[in-house]
Amino acid sequence: MIIIKSPQEIELMKEAGAVTAKILRDLRKFIVPGITTKDIDDFVEQSILGSGMIPAFKGYNGYPASACVSVNQQVVHGIPSKKCILLEGDIVSVDTGTIHRGYFSDAARTYSVGLIDPDAKRLIDVTQASFYEGLKFCKPGFRLSDVSHAIQTRVEEDGFSVVRDYVGHGIGRAMHEEPQIPNFGTPGRGPRLVPGMVLAIEPMVNEGTWKVSVLPDDWTVETIDGKRSAHYENTVVITEEEPLLLTTLDESLMMEV
Ligand code: MF3
Ligand code: CO
Repeated sequence: MIIIKSPQEIELMKEAGAVTAKILRDLRKFIVPGITTKDIDDFVEQSILGSGMIPAFKGYNGYPASACVSVNQQVVHGIPSKKCILLEGDIVSVDTGTIHRGYFSDAARTYSVGLIDPDAKRLIDVTQASFYEGLKFCKPGFRLSDVSHAIQTRVEEDGFSVVRDYVGHGIGRAMHEEPQIPNFGTPGRGPRLVPGMVLAIEPMVNEGTWKVSVLPDDWTVETIDGKRSAHYENTVVITEEEPLLLTTLDESLMMEV
């Protein structure tokens, strides 16, 4: 069952999302060569706690940190580590979220560490662009797989692939609610979108094959070919008109600057 949120609930989710959005914005300056992925997690955790909210990821299914920090060939769920030092030319995905008065936010970005090569830049940009292609279908009347199909089409246009094993999701009083939102599929399938649905839409895009595997730590997901991967996620509200982005700083901008 897809839980429709009331305007009051959406207000709380907006507040939750605003904190996540600001942290992801602040990370643009924080992420430089020489820091560790643990430094990123510390920054995220302190920021969430400083805002009076609860880190949504910490303790979730036993996850040990407040952010997932995934470097280069790592796709998602990288566990922050003091041993993992970011180097010039790396790309790093940070996924985090907050709980505010019982309501969740969830968002992710991929950052460049110093100067990166043009293919890495294109991977990051296409991942974000695919989210915004999907967003065009986040309106009443469209079906869920219209969103999925738009994302897949944009990604494959550039010769990249979408991860199949992990998907977006409904979000509200739990981080993961129905429906599941694949980043691939045939259009015209699945539930019709209606106002009050809140969805975490999150393309995970690989340079090479879509196939991934989980490391022995039981969390870190990597590409099987060792090529790089990028992630872009926002918490999105379906309204009568344009969708509302809860985890970007300027909701009037369709494309983040
Ligand atoms: N943010 C992830 C998602 O988008 C979930 C993170 S799992 C956790 O679904 F355990 F790290 F919290
Ligand atoms: Co998510």
